[in-house]
Amino acid sequence: MIGILDEDIQQILYDEAEIASVVEELGQRITEDYAGKEPLLITVLRGGMIFIADLMRQIDLPVSTDFMAISSYGPESSSGVVQVVKDLDELIIERDVILVEDIIDTGLTLNYLTQIIMAKKPQSLKVCALLDKSVRRIADVPIAYKGFDLPDVFIVGYGLDYHQLYRNLPYIGILKEDLLNESSF
Ligand code: IMP
Ligand code: MG
Repeated sequence: MIGILDEDIQQILYDEAEIASVVEELGQRITEDYAGKEPLLITVLRGGMIFIADLMRQIDLPVSTDFMAISSYGPESSSGVVQVVKDLDELIIERDVILVEDIIDTGLTLNYLTQIIMAKKPQSLKVCALLDKSVRRIADVPIAYKGFDLPDVFIVGYGLDYHQLYRNLPYIGILKEDLLNESSF
């Protein structure tokens, strides 16, 4: 069945089954690497919400979660200068933290976030990103767990939005070009 949002999608890049299998694999790797530990998964609202919900159910360890919300300063959403609008609720000192990100584009947001988190003195910090648009990278931040390598296309679905819409698409797809105003992402 073609839904109302599907009509705006030019091409499906990763369907539900492909995403589920990659998320399962990431969960298994984290389960193995953190055996005997209780990692804290942190994600940044709102894009990472679907990913973290699925990922944590593929991790066979006592995990907990916490959330941050940030907003970008100025007209450039990828300037990397962000304001923390919701900070963590938990103290993360001496915790094994995994920062769960939907997508790494320029890497500027991630770079800033890792600095904020490291200042809180966790035991360890690793990044798990579902999508990596590495061709657009400006700030180099190591990604320990990576789902898909993406070409330089604007995608929506599975938590990712365009003007706050399309997050509820179960797959990841490329938005039709005529709907995309390049300056706004
Ligand atoms: P960065 O600072 O350039 O790495 O920005 C990453 C953020 O930009 C992500 O968390 C998303 O909110 C947003 N973003 C980057 N590329 C896309 C995309 O293709 N679709 C939807 N959001 C994107
Ligand atoms: Mg985001």
